Amino acid sequence: MRRMDEVIARRLDSGVPLVGQVSRYIISAGGKRLRPALLLLMSGALGFRGEQRLNLAAVVEFIHTATLLHDDVVDESTLRRGRATANQNFGNPASVLVGDFLYSRAFQMMLDAHDMRVMEILAEATNVIAEGEVQQLMNMHDPSLDEEGYLHVIRSKTAKLFEASSRLAAVLAKSPPEIEQACADYGQALGTAFQVIDDVLDYTGDAHEMGKNLGDDLREGKSTLPLIAAMRRGTPAQCEVVRHAIETGAVGELDQIVRIVRETGSLDVARDAAAAEAQRAIAAARRLPPNAFTEGLLQLAASLLQRRN
Ligand code: IPE
Ligand code: IPE
Ligand code: MG
Ligand code: MG
Repeated sequence: MRRMDEVIARRLDSGVPLVGQVSRYIISAGGKRLRPALLLLMSGALGFRGEQRLNLAAVVEFIHTATLLHDDVVDESTLRRGRATANQNFGNPASVLVGDFLYSRAFQMMLDAHDMRVMEILAEATNVIAEGEVQQLMNMHDPSLDEEGYLHVIRSKTAKLFEASSRLAAVLAKSPPEIEQACADYGQALGTAFQVIDDVLDYTGDAHEMGKNLGDDLREGKSTLPLIAAMRRGTPAQCEVVRHAIETGAVGELDQIVRIVRETGSLDVARDAAAAEAQRAIAAARRLPPNAFTEGLLQLAASLLQRRN
């Protein structure tokens, strides 16, 4: 991970000072570096030790960082990784444009792999992420969004990059198709569980631990699994409160909504859905060669459900 971070630092070079300022601002704030960790763990599990794993791990973190810069503009978020968001600090134009720089730098870097499969996987992943974000935008303020529609969005906007990170390791290791599929399945399930937990934390987490503000989803009128479950399980009066909050983005009703999602057991519905995805990830990891790295992947899937940030 340290060597991957060195690649990141080196590849942020640009003759335009604002590029380095904005990108170092968000990258040096930390973040869990989960997608590169996944690519590196998976490479280890498959016995690939080449330098290209560090390059592609940096690529997936660049793509992730670009999506965060754009996401915080779209979501009008003010807190990320425990500090003011880049849009808050440098403005929307700088965030959007430096996000574009990071995306395109990632595409320059992936050429170093000299492998069409690598480019195919990353081109498709970034395209699906963008589609997922646009679909989510269309779903805003729509209380009729169901679990299937929600799952489609999170598999696109979040799980796809986990899937790509994982699949890239199999491509680097020249693994047979069934192993590549196990990697992809693991990444997709892990990423889905990860986003479901994130959506639970938006109602129950601690802003200080998460480094993000709570209630952002409600403020945007974004319907996530806790709200979808609450509308299925609540009394007609509770459903009406939730429906109204989604339609209007009534963040003033956050306390009441938190009470409803708790009382209706909807947080547990969401946690159970995340647990089922984590089990799917574990089953996929069991199809990989058994070694210390695979053990790490199994532990990662199990520990994700307990995450607080
Ligand atoms: C944030 O991702 C965006 C989501 C998919 C929920 P992370 O929680 O991985 O963000 P960092 O990189 O650790 O800050
Ligand atoms: C994160 O989505 C951005 C992408 C996955 C592209 P969210 O908007 O749900 O995540 P946070 O809460 O801002 O990190
Ligand atoms: Mg957001
Ligand atoms: Mg968003």
